[in-house]
Amino acid sequence: MKPFQEYLDTINQAIASIPYPDAPSQLYEPISYHMALGGKRVRPVLTLMACDAMGGDLSRALDAAVGLEMFHNFTLLHDDVMDNADVRRGKPTVHRRWNDNTAILSGDTMLTIATQYIARTASWPVMDLFNKTAIEIYEGQQWDMDYEVRNDVTVDEYINMIRLKTSVLLGCALKTGALLADASAEDADALYEAGVNMGLAFQLRDDVLDVWGDPVTFGKEIGGDIMNNKKTFLLINAMQLAQGDDADELRHWLNDPYATRDNKVAGVTALYERLGTRQLAEDAIARYNNMAIAAFNQIKMSDEDKQAFVNLANRLAGRNS
Ligand code: IPE
Ligand code: IPE
Ligand code: MG
Ligand code: MG
Ligand code: MG
Repeated sequence: MKPFQEYLDTINQAIASIPYPDAPSQLYEPISYHMALGGKRVRPVLTLMACDAMGGDLSRALDAAVGLEMFHNFTLLHDDVMDNADVRRGKPTVHRRWNDNTAILSGDTMLTIATQYIARTASWPVMDLFNKTAIEIYEGQQWDMDYEVRNDVTVDEYINMIRLKTSVLLGCALKTGALLADASAEDADALYEAGVNMGLAFQLRDDVLDVWGDPVTFGKEIGGDIMNNKKTFLLINAMQLAQGDDADELRHWLNDPYATRDNKVAGVTALYERLGTRQLAEDAIARYNNMAIAAFNQIKMSDEDKQAFVNLANRLAGRNS
């Protein structure tokens, strides 16, 4: 296994050399803008790491890795329209810098470019996994929006929603690397399982950072989930725990269409703190991270490789960006 940075450099080089046509510039500029903003590149690095750990040839996995990162970025363009988000990776979102139509159409193009990259692997199992994963993500995104206007969402429904919208892509990234290394079905599935649990911790951390993150390192505006009444783990638990005046206040923030951003974000954050939901989220993150680590430890690979995955899981679970 190579150091994380080496996989990252490989991915960044491959992404920087993606050729885009010059015209129509309104279609392609937003794509190169977004792909050049960086981001953690977690998914493509997972693909390369899994391929390496399973004894595969990295050059076979690079197209798939680039395709998965392009696909992830496509989901972000559309997600930022759906979530009405102004900032991503510390820069204006595509729909703010251009407009919604641009985010839709450049996003569509990214999805197709992603599919082209995945198809270059000439692996039917990889294509099949990719398409299945993509549809699951759209399902998760639909639940995420449905839940904005529901007030009886359960923790189980939330976990299933984040499994779909976020976790399966991490599982897919790892399993893709394994498939391209001709790993055993057992190891490929165990890597998928590890990725899904890692993804649950990853999205729970994202929800925590959306409330308590530093906008400079997190790169997104704080309080977006609160403004959208997103049924995050924090909000679901707060709704279940709040009694008396706290319950009234929470209901008020959820229902007052005239609440200003500053007041609502500060009010709901204070409720979360009073009710102890942050600690509940930290506990859940630790639980899913431990499940991910247990899954990595089951896989037939060197101790050094296991440790590299465990270190990455721990880093992502505790991240601030
Ligand atoms: C953001 O993904 C969307 C989530 C699933 C939380 P990342 O946190 O991986 O975003 P980038 O790619 O690093 O910007
Ligand atoms: C995003 O979830 C999941 C997908 C993009 C599929 P969020 O809406 O929480 O992601 P951020 O916080 O905008 O990155
Ligand atoms: Mg969203
Ligand atoms: Mg969002
Ligand atoms: Mg988020």
